Amino acid sequence: MPEIKAFNASELAPNKIRQLLVEGHSPIAIYNLDGEYFATDDTCTHGDASLAEGDIDGDEVVCPYHMGTFDIRTGEACSAPCAFPLKTYNLRVDDGIIYIEINL
Ligand code: FES
Repeated sequence: MPEIKAFNASELAPNKIRQLLVEGHSPIAIYNLDGEYFATDDTCTHGDASLAEGDIDGDEVVCPYHMGTFDIRTGEACSAPCAFPLKTYNLRVDDGIIYIEINL
């Protein structure tokens, strides 16, 4: 699958989230979970909220609109009102740069 270069891993502090806009694709949220990086769709499956504006609580992201949560590693919906999972993306860090696999 094609990869896109996101940004330098050092630009995302531990337990922070950053939105990545990719032309021709829905926004992606990239997470630094204690030094491990993950990527999911940025838009909540319950409404039109950017999860990058939410908070990390343990291994979950808390949506800023109605406080539903998702597992950052798997995209699974963990608490109401979220019921549908987030799409997740494979990524890798090479020479300090985050690359994400997406189909454009
Ligand atoms: S929009 Fe995310 S929980 Fe409602």
